[in-house]
Amino acid sequence: MSRWLRPTAGSGHPRLEFGADYNPEQWPREVWARDVELMRSAGVTIVTVGVFSWARLQPRPDTWDFGWLDEVMDLLHAGGIAVDLATATASAPPWLHHRHPEILAVDAGGRTVWPGGRQHHRPTSPVFRRYAMALVERMARRYGDHPALAAWHVSNELGCHDVADHSPDAEVAFRAWLQRRYGDLGALNRAWGTSFWSQHYGDWAEIMTPRAVGPGAVPNPTQALDFDRFSSDALRDHLCAERDLLHTLTPDVPVTTNFMVMAETKGMDYASWAPEVDIVANDHYVFPGLGAATARDELSFSSNLTGNLAGGDPWWQMEHSTSAVNWQPVNPRKRPGELARDSLTHLAHGADAICYFQWRQSAAGAEKFHSAMLPHAGPDSAVFRDVTALGATLADLAPVAGARRVPARAAILWDWPSWWAVEQPFTPSSELRYRDEALGWYRAFLDAGVRADVVPAGADLSGYELVVAPVLHVVGPERAAELAAFVDGGGHLVATYSSGTVDDDAHALLGGYPGALRELLGIRVEEFAPLATGSTVTLDDGSTGDLWSEPVQLTDGAVEVLARYTGDGTDPGAADLAGLPAVTRRPAGAGSASYVSTRLDDRAPLLRRLLAGAGIHPELPGELCGRVELVRRGGFRFVINRTEAPVSLAPLGGIASLAGLPAATLPPRGVTVLRG
Ligand code: GAL
Repeated sequence: MSRWLRPTAGSGHPRLEFGADYNPEQWPREVWARDVELMRSAGVTIVTVGVFSWARLQPRPDTWDFGWLDEVMDLLHAGGIAVDLATATASAPPWLHHRHPEILAVDAGGRTVWPGGRQHHRPTSPVFRRYAMALVERMARRYGDHPALAAWHVSNELGCHDVADHSPDAEVAFRAWLQRRYGDLGALNRAWGTSFWSQHYGDWAEIMTPRAVGPGAVPNPTQALDFDRFSSDALRDHLCAERDLLHTLTPDVPVTTNFMVMAETKGMDYASWAPEVDIVANDHYVFPGLGAATARDELSFSSNLTGNLAGGDPWWQMEHSTSAVNWQPVNPRKRPGELARDSLTHLAHGADAICYFQWRQSAAGAEKFHSAMLPHAGPDSAVFRDVTALGATLADLAPVAGARRVPARAAILWDWPSWWAVEQPFTPSSELRYRDEALGWYRAFLDAGVRADVVPAGADLSGYELVVAPVLHVVGPERAAELAAFVDGGGHLVATYSSGTVDDDAHALLGGYPGALRELLGIRVEEFAPLATGSTVTLDDGSTGDLWSEPVQLTDGAVEVLARYTGDGTDPGAADLAGLPAVTRRPAGAGSASYVSTRLDDRAPLLRRLLAGAGIHPELPGELCGRVELVRRGGFRFVINRTEAPVSLAPLGGIASLAGLPAATLPPRGVTVLRG
């Protein structure tokens, strides 16, 4: 058991935490005791306190006010509720930017990011850092021994609004980062390809962050990719600075911060952040705009990736919503069963804490129309009843706490630098979406009824038998060697279009695409053939591709063609591909290396073939494949209804579920948990 899990009194077994962000500073004191009473009735075990309370804790530069927080901490403790205490550095108070306007961030156009929202500071500002660390020190010294304290919550969603800062501080820090990466200017000039467009640098002082350039031009792509890397590292540096101080002052208290592995949030390379926290924690919000089915699968995908960032250890779902959010164009409420389904899906993928934003729905401020555990309507409400029911379910599911994810036999590689590089401007198709391709393969695994782990590129692949590398655009020598070793060791690799195209410096690999993987795949492509918006090509296995195609040549006699372009389709260039290989497979010893040169409308039929070739079969009876998601955690199986219709569990052959969860039929959006 991880040293950071809180044991339950008596049994010593770890517990499942249940709670939310709690913002008592938004409410009069009279409400606090009632809050604790209602939290207890809902089964809440932990709350995150103080996230946005800097202005209340330090109302003036030399004035501190901890009295109210002392009272809240004591009240919560008396109520048996633990505290994940924020360091409160997420949003600077007005006096700080008034006194030091030089902490304000600057956007790519050189405009100041004004206060009035939140997270308006420069992540690299030494002034901000000094004030933030002084606050962290006060918090640690005051509350380090408080019996309610269960964890430290550094800042909040680092990078949510401030990932790309172009201020003078950012520029200085960027240059220092580049000096560490390249050592000398010659190496930087080579890596950035500065002979192009007359960009050669003769002095470090000439280097800027990639600011907005003139209409029709784009910044240097390697400079932009390095800026993405730097920006992620700069935020991580702040995390580490707070963490180091907290570890020094309170070595026995775990430190966490909430990641944002979800949808299009792409600025932070969490693979490099995860090792820096004691407990991985994530925030996830459902994006109804994707459509109900895709949005559900996206939640599972994000949760799966988070569990693998945590290396299979339990992690915390730090924020999600009980019902509507307030920041989409239209904010639908959750449908019956959705609240529990979303939470239990996170639990299935390894979460040991199920927490929401937020406990009590705000009456004032920008988020007053965002749902909460306790809505505007009060405890006499469907949301609060659902919350309370979930609290009871989680208490019954306590045996799951502490259990590790059970690794799948297949995996999908996830790589932040590839995401950043492939979605830069001036590429063969501006319509390529990195995450869509990865999510598409994940959905194909779900449709095939086969579990797949979403793992960060660079993870140990030796335990996997089949690995899909969707749009693994950046493949340097190290990654190429890892993939070759995987195949040599008997693994089955599936790479897609736009993989292996550039090296770590975003330079095209020469001699034909997909440069880094050409030999491994036994193919060669002279030119990409992206498809016109909305147009298609057809393949002779009955499938359709859109977005992308390639005239694939075979360079290795052993390569089998799994599907060819027929020459039909609505794309003007479809006929030019007639008869050319579209999907290939090169057997290599006991393993193989397959290539998919278009974006398939339905990846599941091909995936089933590839899985069968690898000897991987569904763990679910055929009738259930695709209709439910199966997740394994420790000695437990989670079965989640992916559909909007009831699903009979009879094919599982008479089951005994935990916690009074459904045993015969899963209702729409229903979940059950089985032993074994
Ligand atoms: C998160 C943030 C919370 C709240 C929430 C609303 O980004 O951490 O403070 O704003 O979103 O969905």
